[in-house]
Parts: sequence; C-alpha cells; structure tokens
Amino acid sequence: MNVAASLADLSPNNLEAYWMPFTANRQFKSAPRLFVAAEGMFYKTREGREILDAASGLWCVNAGHCRKEIVEAVQAQVATMDYSPAFQMGHPAAFELASRVSAIAPGDMDHVFFVNSGSEAVDTALKIAVAYHGANGQGGRFRLIGRERGYHGVGFGGLSVGGIVANRKAFGPLLNGSDHICHTHNLAENAFSRGQPEWGGHLADDLERLVALHGAETIAAVIVEPMAGSTGVLIPPKGYLQRLREICDKHGILLIFDEVITGFGRLGASFAAEKLGVVPDMITCAKGITNGTVPMGAVIARKHVYDAFMNAAVGDNTIELFHGYTYSGHPLACAAGLATLDIYRDERLFERADSLSGYFEDAVHSLKDAPYVIDVRNIGMVAGIELEPREGQPTARAFDAFLELYERGILVRTTGDIIALSPPLIVEETQIDRIVDTIRDVLKTIE
Ligand SMILES: Cc1ncc(COP(=O)(O)O)c(C=O)c1O
Repeated sequence: MNVAASLADLSPNNLEAYWMPFTANRQFKSAPRLFVAAEGMFYKTREGREILDAASGLWCVNAGHCRKEIVEAVQAQVATMDYSPAFQMGHPAAFELASRVSAIAPGDMDHVFFVNSGSEAVDTALKIAVAYHGANGQGGRFRLIGRERGYHGVGFGGLSVGGIVANRKAFGPLLNGSDHICHTHNLAENAFSRGQPEWGGHLADDLERLVALHGAETIAAVIVEPMAGSTGVLIPPKGYLQRLREICDKHGILLIFDEVITGFGRLGASFAAEKLGVVPDMITCAKGITNGTVPMGAVIARKHVYDAFMNAAVGDNTIELFHGYTYSGHPLACAAGLATLDIYRDERLFERADSLSGYFEDAVHSLKDAPYVIDVRNIGMVAGIELEPREGQPTARAFDAFLELYERGILVRTTGDIIALSPPLIVEETQIDRIVDTIRDVLKTIE
C-alpha cells in the first residue's frame, strides 16, 4: 500500500495539532470534512463519498485532478534531481517554464520571477514596483494603491493593499503609504449582469482622487484583481480596466494585475489581461500555473520593468534585485508547470473554457428566482451567486449552503454570503447542470 493510501486509513483521532488556515477550526474539528483522493472532476472523502469539485480545489486545479502527465512529470523529476539552489545557480526546467509562461502572456511581458504562492507573488511585485522607480531615479515613489474588497494574499504587503476588513483588522498598522480606490460592486446598478456590467467604468477615476491627494510623484503602483475572486466574484465593469491603464500611464504609475485566480484559462484566455484587452506592467499568478499540484507562483514583468534593473546595476557581477526565495523555481514545481502547460495547450482548455462559458452563464442565471438569491454574476468559467444575508448573521446562510452542498456531493467555495463557482475547465455540461440543480434544491431547504 502506498503512503497516501495508508494515511487515508488512519482514524483522524487527534485533530487538535493542526491549526487550519482560514477555517472555523472548532466547527471543522467537531464534524471534519476529509478528502483522501482525487481524480478528474471529483474528490473522494474518507467515508468513500464522491464530491463533484465546483471550486477547482481552491481556484487552482484548472485541468482537473491527478492528471497522469503531471503526476508522472513530478515523479520523474523528484527521482532525477530533488532540488537545485535558487541563487547563483540554475536548472533547465526553470528557464523553459519562464519562456513558456511569457509566451502565453500578453504584449511584451517577457520576464518571469518565480515564487511559491500568490501571496509571495504579490509582495514580490510590490517590491519590484518600488525598486523599479528607484532604479529609474524616482525613489520618491513608495505608495502602493489597492482597491476596497481586493484580496492579495496574506503577506504584510498584500494585506496592506488588500481591502477585506476581516483579513486586515487584527494585524495592526499595515504598510505606511498604502491606500485604496473604491470597489466596483453595485447591486442597484448591476444586479444579474451577464459578463461585464455596463455601469461603473467611471469608477476607475477614483484613482485621480488619490493622485490629487498624495501626488503622483509619490505613487509607485496600483494593484487590482481584474476579476476579484475571493471577495465574492466582482466583475470589472466595461471600460474600467482600460481607464485604470490610461490614468496609470498619464501619471507614470505601474499597473499590476493580480491574476492568481484569473490566470491560466479561468476567463477563457491565458490571462484576464489577454481576454479583456489591457496589458498591465506586471501580472502576479500562482495556482493554475502547476494545476495546484506543487506550490508555485510567479511575477510576469514587461520588458521595461526588467530592463530598468539591468540598466541600473553597475558591473556585470552585481545582483540586480535583492529578492528571492530558497524554493524559487523549485524543480518539482517547474516539472509540474511544464506538464500543466502542455495539457492546457494540447487539450485547448482555455478555448474550451471560452466556448463553455455561454452554457455556464445560462445555467447559473437560471438561479435568479431561487430563494434568497439577490444577484448572479459571471465571467468565463466563474460565477458568483449572492444570497440575502440572514438578519444579524452575515455569512451564516452561505456557510449553511456550503455544508449542505457538501452533504449532497458538491464542493463550492463561499465568501461572505456569496457562493462562488469555478469548476475545472474540463467540466461537462451535465456536471454544470448537476451543480446548479443541487444549489437550487439546497436553497429551498436552508433557512
Ligand atoms: C487574487 C489573489 N491574490 C493572492 C492570493 C494569495 O495566494 P496564496 O494563497 O497562494 O498565497 C489569492 C488566493 O486566493 C488570490 O485570489
């Protein structure tokens, strides 16, 4: 028996030691939900039940679970070379993966800095932005601007530009000089929009307010998720991202798209930047880069960003950027990443996501008249179903729906009172129907 299978047989008789992330530990430990295996669209629980994955794990398993090609690539790599030092040494797969990622990134986004998670990608991009201006002789640009309701991971940089109060409030003063533009969520104007809402492009002008307040010469970068996932699937209004790009260009501010969720096919193209026709100065990504198999993240930078560092460094032996991680470009992650990109290409999964998105849209919007539903919104292979909160108990109704859906064999993600759907891009139409029908039934049974 292999190790994974023998572990699966162990009783979880002591759940205490593991302090679970972003989890109601006491609730979980009173009624644990344990996965022990996964394949394709399904997880298997410890009790042997199959759970249809409508969340791609945590927005990451875009090609479906335990893909043979990825498993074998990682197995072969670990048996050949387990680790290679990340600093002052290299290995071929890291260079190859960087080339492959930049080849599917839009415009002249030609350089890739590897990290191990979305949070590290964000903090890396923020540091690069500040140092970039220094390298260009504009060291006064230190401010980092995010957006209300943004999620950029859990490092102090990402928290500082993030805009979810529950994530921020316990952690004291965050980065000096961080600020936020307003979010774009407006049910009065945009409820039940299909794809990008018509109303709200002008909200990008809020950046001009911060420029007027702080002075453009103090602002290094603006970071936004093109589609905000973790805060409840907020879709950019038409023209909004274009307008942000224009304002950043006007004031010499770098624009960063956090594509940790939207990267690698989720919206029906390689990146949201590609799909929505706006090229930022940097993209942060993670999750789908390895299909969730091995932790990895990356910052993809435009040529002018990379060049600024190469041109500013004096002497060929000088390190241009004093930043990096022991596991940047880890061989196992690179092997997983290369095999993942092969699957995306060979199975045309980004195109598949695009062509399936119309069916998905019709299916999720059929929930418009289900109990408690106050909005349905969608783009690509993502949808948000917003429920009316239970009075005095925000988040409770959606959490009850999550638990009941799990009982009925469907994994979703909930955030606030929003049910977020992001199935693997291999999902079949019948499985979309099953997800939506089960949600409808569950909403009829919960309070
Ligand atoms: C947009 C965005 N940025 C950053 C992160 C953080 O990624 P990680 O959990 O890998 O640190 C996430 C995670 O969901 C995310 O959605």
